[in-house]
Amino acid sequence: MNPKPAPIANSLDPLFRPSSVAVVGASDKPNSIGGSVLSNLLRDGYSGKIFPVNPNATEVKGLRAFPSVKDIKQPVDLAVIAVPAKFVESVVDDCIVAEVRGLVVITSGFAESSKEGLTLERRITEKVRAAGIRMVGPNCMGLLNTDADYRLNVTFTPIWPPAGNIGILSQSGALGLTILDHVRQLNLGISSFISVGNKADVSGNDLLEYWADDPHTDVILLYLESFGNPRKFARIAPRVVRKKPIIAVKAGRSAAGSRAASSHSAALASLDVAVDALFDQTGVLRTDTLESMFDIAALLSTQPIPAGPRVGVVSNAGGPSILLADACEAHGLKLPPLCGPTTEALREFLPSHAGFANPIDLVGSDRPEDFERAVRIVGNDPNIDAVVVIFIPPLLTTRPEDVAAAIARAAGEIPKDRPILNVFLSSQGTPEMLGSGRRGRIPSYRYPENAAISLAAAYECGQWRKRPEGRATVIPMPAVDRMRRAIEQAQVGAGENFWLSAEHTAEVLDAVGIPMAESHVSSLEGASAAAQKIGFPVVLKAVAPGLVHKSDVGGVVLGLKSVDEVARAAVGLRQRMAEVGVDLRDVLVQQQIDGGIEMLIGVTTDPVFGPLIVCGMGGVQVELLKDVSFRLTPVRDTDAADMVAKLRSAPLLRGYRGSAPADESAVIEAIMKVSSLVEIAPEILELDLNPIKVLEPGRGIVVVDARIRATPKTP
Ligand code: COA
Repeated sequence: MNPKPAPIANSLDPLFRPSSVAVVGASDKPNSIGGSVLSNLLRDGYSGKIFPVNPNATEVKGLRAFPSVKDIKQPVDLAVIAVPAKFVESVVDDCIVAEVRGLVVITSGFAESSKEGLTLERRITEKVRAAGIRMVGPNCMGLLNTDADYRLNVTFTPIWPPAGNIGILSQSGALGLTILDHVRQLNLGISSFISVGNKADVSGNDLLEYWADDPHTDVILLYLESFGNPRKFARIAPRVVRKKPIIAVKAGRSAAGSRAASSHSAALASLDVAVDALFDQTGVLRTDTLESMFDIAALLSTQPIPAGPRVGVVSNAGGPSILLADACEAHGLKLPPLCGPTTEALREFLPSHAGFANPIDLVGSDRPEDFERAVRIVGNDPNIDAVVVIFIPPLLTTRPEDVAAAIARAAGEIPKDRPILNVFLSSQGTPEMLGSGRRGRIPSYRYPENAAISLAAAYECGQWRKRPEGRATVIPMPAVDRMRRAIEQAQVGAGENFWLSAEHTAEVLDAVGIPMAESHVSSLEGASAAAQKIGFPVVLKAVAPGLVHKSDVGGVVLGLKSVDEVARAAVGLRQRMAEVGVDLRDVLVQQQIDGGIEMLIGVTTDPVFGPLIVCGMGGVQVELLKDVSFRLTPVRDTDAADMVAKLRSAPLLRGYRGSAPADESAVIEAIMKVSSLVEIAPEILELDLNPIKVLEPGRGIVVVDARIRATPKTP
């Protein structure tokens, strides 16, 4: 027991590093949750003072019990509350009087279960906030801190994980138990674990801030089910990722509900898309499975991040090396040829039929000394950034422990900035000797693909860190004023969310410098005159309130080369629109832009995530092909460039198979302008620039169809 824990500095310190803990609801009754918390504190060797609180007992588990927190009359840093929900508020009141500094409310029956529960939770949260107390939960499994100075376990699980440098947050209590169990089985080292429950006060964002400065934590794992404040997460996470990798599993990959989607941008978005955008943008590694989260954590918590994508492989079996090589290539890693001196050094001791091209194949050898030499030589090759060793025990002549010890010795002699990973293809698991070298723990995987995916994730994290922070576009004040005037005019008379007229839309875009094809709205009769003003060829588009996807109902006529053609097209348009119940009076006459690559830039607003910017290959197939990428605002140049680069069809912009390249930088600029536009005009709910024609490099982009949906003026 350490009599003098470090002084409390951070607002979450009373939770993780308390000098004293009260367990309210501690009981000797078998299976009592409060009793389990108390037992865990005692069993796991908590270093501070423990005060059981129970009005019906004078002693619990051999410790003096107090009727209430107020009766303790000694400083209490942390109170863990495990009493029925109806008593929680009065216990919280007592804690405020007793000047408790942190609370963990395990009790359920709050916002997660009923309206009354939500009201109670809000009231309690207000009280603790007013008192400057931090509260975890309610409806949570508690937390633990493996730091030897504290050894704090205020969960009700009997699991004490190995101490280490991984901080874990679980939003689900039940899953938190599984996570701790897995962590122990995999022998991953944990610094602290927290189940956040309803997140009434302490949120995931608070924990990111805490772990960012916690010297015991190097890697952060998040199991999330919802986001409270994704915009705050977007501000905090990139700062943290530059110091410590964050790996997240976000439950719920399926599309989010059936939000009525009236624009392409909205139809393409889902909550999952927003989460992906958020993680991509902030450098958080998202995994689909818990297994993959642990695989990556095993690597990042023990090894450096690779400086590049080049992998050197040493194996004693051909098949697994091929699987590894394929998985590496598929995830952006490379197996480059090794340099001449490396091959020569390997030839000195390996049989002539060994494989000398990367992967190095020891052809069935299981001799520890072969592994040791080969790993040391390959690990020092200047052409690689990381090493993967694959071992299959082929015969019973060698003890796997000896091979593991040999790999561990060799690992100690390769440059410290190169990660080393191991694949031990054995049903017996990995011998502990693998951790016996100077390098300490080496992550070991059961299958080659898991090693490749983990290494690729570590590489991705390193690449993200190298990215410059980027710049956002600033729209000049006069342009802002002009744009705002257009929106305010459009809002006149609007009682609910509405689509801007073609004129107001054009004015908004023009103000912020997004070029549109010259267009005029005219009566059907005036269409020919408008066309003459623009010059031929022109396009006619039906304009009517509520008419959204015009081309689906034959509302667009292209390639009109004369006054007569325009007049005839106008009559035809009116007839077709009448067939779908639209009484057409006006048309948009627009300059026809030939050539160029069709793209889309748009905005949709998620109730939790706020505005999301989308870009993709545009035109009518956009919803079919779904070749799109998303980001949250503000989109910087680096983000916008990523958005374009992520598209499967990005090569089209760069000149695919002899086709002319297009002005990619103008697309990036336009994405940033749209992002700035919605930041300064929060009334904009949806925006579709579709299609945009991307012309040759230097000629920019031209928007040929645009729609903006906005909220009415707030009174
Ligand atoms: N102050 C201190 N102790 C009090 C108290 C108060 N105001 N009111 C009651 N207690 C004591 C009781 O006397 C009892 O001790 P005893 O058995 O020695 O008499 C103890 O607290 C527990 O109360 P009890 O009524 O037996 O409740 P319980 O143990 O059945 O349930 C919870 C309490 C918190 C476990 C339960 O309400 C709950 O929320 N369960 C779900 C927890 C959960 O799943 N959380 C989320 C995990 S992810």
